[in-house]
Amino acid sequence: MSPATREMGGQNMKIAVIGGDGTGPEVTAEALKVLEAIASSEGFTYELQDYDFGGQRYLDSGEILPASAVEELKQHDAIFLGAVGHPDVAPGILEKGLLLELRFQLDQYINLRPVKLYPGVETPLKGKGPDDIDFVVVRENTEDLYCGVGGFLKKGTPEEVATQTAIYSRKGCERCIRWAFQYTQERNNPAGKRLTLVAKTNVLTFGHDLWDRAFQDVAKDFPDVEADYNHVDACCMWMVKNPEYYDVIVTTNMFGDIITDLGAMIQGGMGVAAGGNLNPDPGGTSMFEPMGGSAPKYTGQNVINPIAAIGAMGMLLEHSGQPKAGQRVLDAIQVVTGTKMESQAAGKMGHGTREVGDLVVAALE
Ligand code: IPM
Ligand code: MN
Repeated sequence: MSPATREMGGQNMKIAVIGGDGTGPEVTAEALKVLEAIASSEGFTYELQDYDFGGQRYLDSGEILPASAVEELKQHDAIFLGAVGHPDVAPGILEKGLLLELRFQLDQYINLRPVKLYPGVETPLKGKGPDDIDFVVVRENTEDLYCGVGGFLKKGTPEEVATQTAIYSRKGCERCIRWAFQYTQERNNPAGKRLTLVAKTNVLTFGHDLWDRAFQDVAKDFPDVEADYNHVDACCMWMVKNPEYYDVIVTTNMFGDIITDLGAMIQGGMGVAAGGNLNPDPGGTSMFEPMGGSAPKYTGQNVINPIAAIGAMGMLLEHSGQPKAGQRVLDAIQVVTGTKMESQAAGKMGHGTREVGDLVVAALE
């Protein structure tokens, strides 16, 4: 499909589906159930292509991603990823070989993570409700400590040295910052448009100085957006104490990884937190995923919460030319969390995985 077709609304959306490991396929099935319902209601069509990438394929064949995978995935409008992670695969293999490889190869330079407390969902923050917890983190997704630059010297000896280098480029931070300003402008928060750069300029006086200068430069093009700054440690404090302060946060890859897990907790946990790895450039292919892992111990029991996966599908629609469908999915999720679910924790929802999917479909009507 040409980029032009996508911009026109992706009439026949091509979606690659990587269900993955553990409970990944179960939550993916619910997200696809909701996709089917919203597509017929909104009158758009789509094609799905399944990929068996993940821990099981790696254990069976020794291969993480076949050579053709990236080129094939690029032919799709979007990718839906359930979860990857297998108890028999050592840490780092699938993370680097699959998830980070796809983020980098597809140049998905934005990791978008809404931190929104849905109605009816419990937050550990005392006295805070849905009106207080509603902000978005824009995490740079291709640079920083994630580049894999580093090495060992005298490995395994008492004199061992290890390095791990953070890489920041002007292009890399500027494109992310610019996207974040645009996003803040479009989000148009009635309480005021504010973009907070979260970094550590008082210690990382090279890399985060580059970020800060890029931020100040790009800010000049967005006079209606308040260009704000927090050190990352202070940000963690404010996210807990005054989450209502935030509108949009833009941050580096490593800090973004950490603060979005904090964000996930204040929005009710891994059962609800969703994210998108976006390549917003023309013709780019973006990937959407629930933030939780493969939760092997819950596999096949119909107890895992599919809300995060359904939320990720809503984001996929929003960013693939079907914003109205995406909004309807988000609205339906909130009806279900607000009026039908007892808890967001696996096994405590008051319903099974499939039933929660059915409830979201019913709430679309
Ligand atoms: C995330 C995950 C990944 C990351 C891991 C699995 C490599 O924690 O999406 O936040 O660190 O980006
Ligand atoms: Mn993470």
